[in-house]
Amino acid sequence: MSENFMKNKILVTGGAGYIGSHTCIALHEAGYDIVVYDNLSNSSREAINRVSTLIGETIEFVEGDIRDNELLREVFALHEFFGVIHFAGLKAVGESVVKPLLYYNNNVSGTITLLEVMSEYNVKNLVFSSSATVYGDPDTLPIEESSKRSCANPYGQSKLAVEYILEDLAVSDDSWNLISLRYFNPVGAHASGQIGEDPNDIPNNLMPYVSQVAIGKLEKLSIFGNDYSTIDGTGVRDFIHVTDLAQGHVAALDYLEQQTSSEIYSNTASPIGFLPINLGTGKGTSVLELISTFSDVSGQAIPYQFASRRAGDIASCYASSEKAKNLLGWQAELSIADMCKDTWHWQSMNPNGYTMS
Ligand code: NAD
Ligand code: UD1
Repeated sequence: MSENFMKNKILVTGGAGYIGSHTCIALHEAGYDIVVYDNLSNSSREAINRVSTLIGETIEFVEGDIRDNELLREVFALHEFFGVIHFAGLKAVGESVVKPLLYYNNNVSGTITLLEVMSEYNVKNLVFSSSATVYGDPDTLPIEESSKRSCANPYGQSKLAVEYILEDLAVSDDSWNLISLRYFNPVGAHASGQIGEDPNDIPNNLMPYVSQVAIGKLEKLSIFGNDYSTIDGTGVRDFIHVTDLAQGHVAALDYLEQQTSSEIYSNTASPIGFLPINLGTGKGTSVLELISTFSDVSGQAIPYQFASRRAGDIASCYASSEKAKNLLGWQAELSIADMCKDTWHWQSMNPNGYTMS
């Protein structure tokens, strides 16, 4: 911390959310100065309070929407930002099918508004939260960044649309430096057990569902398909600990700082442009393997039944993590057991998430 003391100032949109809150801690530990901007549509002020307690400093927080041009301009006028980490977005695949306009408006229009304000204030460094969902059903594994992109639901299309916008922006003006981090399956929680994933309703994703079964809030897990051509017939995913993911953002920002330093700029006008990078572990784990590890580390039984495949699901998905390793010097460190242990710690300390009752 001392060596890096008072690095650049970063605007963190969506910083009260699951990945954002963990990243705020990692950024603070790395010496970055942060301002969080979030409309709390899928998060709680309590997450910000807990992050402040964990870092021993009050986080600067603005409650606002990324589609609110005026408020964003006020924030940019007040602070001299080096760049933006842009987490803000809606992420429920099923909801996006029912409310596509909401998803395109929030995720795509919201990002355009943010980029316009960044341009106005000459802040041209961005780290965007993209997703492995942009690869759709991959032709080859592990998935490399150059793989074809396609997705079938409005949520995924909104991520893809933003990636296309960022690519066009980088072509139009080489002073933009735009890193698109494609997350695989983020799970786990901060080791303190103070912050973690807090789904509003019944979880759609596997790990929060498993942990709610473990604590007895849900009766049993339905495993969507046991006839895939995988190790045991169940789906295979690249689960990545949210703490590792948070460190990936620090590495991306550090890279942006290095590449935009004056010495490098003098040699090349566009050191970055649009740069997609996978954040995954490079290892696939099946649904049954994850359940078994969760059960071992928590000491809880996880009752389950096999059900039919979920529409839109693919058999296997895991990252090539070479590009992140080579360019950012980053790789995931934590194991599936760590992911399960920290999820269980968070779940058992906070059975109702951030709602204290
Ligand atoms: P999250 O819902 O916990 O966090 C998103 C945050 O953005 C929330 O705090 C929400 O209140 C805020 N937000 C949403 N719309 C906003 C708006 N218009 N203005 C201001 N704030 C707004 O989700 P997360 O899991 O932390 O995901 C963060 C980002 O990463 C999202 O963009 C998501 O699509 C992407 N992503 C997530 C996953 C995952 O599995 N969690 C995987 C791939 C990509
Ligand atoms: C889902 C989304 C994807 C999004 C990602 C991260 C779909 C179709 N895909 O991906 O767009 O980027 O979350 O937010 O929703 N599973 C069960 N039972 C459950 C829940 C999940 O068996 O109750 C299985 C799934 O079939 C899959 C695996 O667990 O094989 C992982 O599922 P999930 O956690 O939802 O992630 P993804 O399917 O990878």
